[in-house]
Amino acid sequence: MKIGKRDWIFLAIVAAVLLVFIAISGKEKTKKLPVDATHQQFNDMLNAGKKKIEVDPLCESCHDGVKVKFPPNHPAKPGGAPMRCLFCHKQQK
Ligand code: HEC
Ligand code: HEC
Repeated sequence: MKIGKRDWIFLAIVAAVLLVFIAISGKEKTKKLPVDATHQQFNDMLNAGKKKIEVDPLCESCHDGVKVKFPPNHPAKPGGAPMRCLFCHKQQK
């Protein structure tokens, strides 16, 4: 079988879709909200049905960039609007 122009277009689309999947799967590796003594209270709140947006502001009492530092490339910066921690750092199943 000869690989024609249409086949190349098809292959390019398949490659693009694969690349998007790889890009998304990279984001999924963001660390989850830990299940430990420090973070258990937040897991309890979420399990009890509290909304993420109500729990988010409580994180910054420690994660303010001073007491607990963020990695230098952290996508959200303290200081401005309250950070939506749990939007990215999801609760573990
Ligand atoms: C009482 C202080 C405190 C509060 C409040 C707190 N954290 Fe933490 N958190 C820590 C400390 C200290 C560490 C680093 C040591 C560790 O892994 O426990 C940490 C680590 C983390 C990590 C990285 C875990 C890892 O695997 O490396 C994430 C993600 C995190 N916290 C998210 C949150 C979120 C989201 C909230 C709010 C719901 C929150 N934390 C509230 C103290 C706190
Ligand atoms: C826009 C998405 C986003 C938001 C909002 C966000 N983070 Fe992160 N955070 C990340 C990414 C991506 C990383 C780097 C990858 C990783 O290690 O999880 C990271 C890394 C971290 C780490 C270091 C984890 C390690 O490697 O030890 C901590 C701690 C953390 N975030 C806590 C928080 C807290 C607390 C908040 C809210 C105040 C917050 N993050 C808000 C996306 C986010």
